[in-house]
Amino acid sequence: MRSIRIFDTTLRDGEQSPGASMNVEEKLQVARQLARLGVDAIEAGFAISSEGDFEAIRTIAGEVRGPIITSLARAREADIRRAWEALRDAPRKRIHTFHSTSDIHLKYQHRGMSRQDALKRSAEMVRLARSLVEDVEFSPMDATRTEPSFLAEVVEAVIEAGAGTVNIPDTVGYSVPEEFGGIIKYLMDNVFNIGKAVISVHCHNDLGLAVANSLAAVRAGAGQVECTINGIGERAGNCSLEEVVMALRTRRDFFNADTAVRSEEIIRSSRLITKITGLSVQPNKAIVGANAFAHESGIHQDGLLKAKATYEIMRPESVGLTSTKLILGKHSGRHAFKTRLAELGHELSDEELESAFRKFKHLADQKKEIYDEDLEVLVSEELAGAPELYSLAGLKISSGTDETPSATLKLRTGEKTSEHTATGDGPVDATYKAIAALTKTKSTLQRFEVKSITGGMDAIGEVIVALEEGGITVRGHGADTDIIVAAAKAYINALNKLAAKRQKGQIRPPEL
Ligand code: KIV
Ligand code: ZN
Repeated sequence: MRSIRIFDTTLRDGEQSPGASMNVEEKLQVARQLARLGVDAIEAGFAISSEGDFEAIRTIAGEVRGPIITSLARAREADIRRAWEALRDAPRKRIHTFHSTSDIHLKYQHRGMSRQDALKRSAEMVRLARSLVEDVEFSPMDATRTEPSFLAEVVEAVIEAGAGTVNIPDTVGYSVPEEFGGIIKYLMDNVFNIGKAVISVHCHNDLGLAVANSLAAVRAGAGQVECTINGIGERAGNCSLEEVVMALRTRRDFFNADTAVRSEEIIRSSRLITKITGLSVQPNKAIVGANAFAHESGIHQDGLLKAKATYEIMRPESVGLTSTKLILGKHSGRHAFKTRLAELGHELSDEELESAFRKFKHLADQKKEIYDEDLEVLVSEELAGAPELYSLAGLKISSGTDETPSATLKLRTGEKTSEHTATGDGPVDATYKAIAALTKTKSTLQRFEVKSITGGMDAIGEVIVALEEGGITVRGHGADTDIIVAAAKAYINALNKLAAKRQKGQIRPPEL
């Protein structure tokens, strides 16, 4: 059985999805989850592209253990040296450098650069990267629109220069499975030193073919697949990690290949990305969509009751879809709470644990049954928290069919608590007006989304908002059994993030 490496680029290409940018704490949380998921490599960012990316890579390199940590770098000396600085503390590190090779990119993006100059630069920069780290990956960008014999020349040259992995990107999502598999086979047959490197593939989903193309490449000999959780990424996204992993696992008989991914962590990883980026997954999305394991038709249900294999090709448990009821109640202690969190893969500091435990007790007062999903929400509130300038100290709502909705909200700002009453079109509008009056925020609300975490009348409701101020957009997240309280928490959470950015000077002052 061949072992296929999974190179996750959620934090780099995935973050290039419109509106998906993540802060350093959020990226660290994702990287920790990717390590639990068991990916082979994490592309943590593009070090030279921004201070934020550099800081995120440096933090992940210093704290996340297990996977290889990589940074993207153009084939330029400054990029490669910056990537190296960011990766310094990682025990397992890789520089991933790239240069376009298609004629169309060389003509327009590189102002008429010749093929020979592109090849020379690529090899030189791989050599430079190899002088800094053992593990170097090279990508000939827009490979699928590159003339095959030139592509083979470039691949040979960068392997000769020391690249241990050569990644073949379908940058614009143009290829189709038979053709893409053919390109990989062509390289396997025509690059004399191909055995010295792992061939990787990196497919975009513009034609909805990223997973199919990646699987065709595996059949043709590729040993690494680059992908993202939920398939997020530039434009229509990248190859979806969960789909490619589960296709290989479910059809090991066909592919004779598998990955080291712990598939039981897939749902948790998917939900974390949805929560952090605010990008929801469509209900019919394979593997992680809400309906992916729901059987509606009577015939299917009947078959399933008789024998699961009649209609089920994967067990829901194999991707982590379990609704284990937590047997913890109002009287349960910290120890049981901490133990369950550890089983779910969360190690909290004493302070975080204390705060999550307080929230758990509050929730246990409101909700009969507490599920692992509820706990995940509590914990992620702790881990992703921006430093709290503001916190909700109280909320009273008055609303009905024959009255103007009003909200009296108490807000704690540092040591001080202040109160304001506002009216609005509805209870959320009134609550938001009260918060806006108390904080004097100049931000504008760009998105407001409500979801329920678990079923039932006492389910936890989750609200995600996006606020914009001075060219910066942040997402806020709040969860509570009372949806208006959840909405207030989400708004306050986003305002805390804006306050943190303002303090770091990352928000432009308003134009006068
Ligand atoms: O799509 C692409 O070509 C890329 C490269 C930088 C690998 O993301
Ligand atoms: Zn890409």
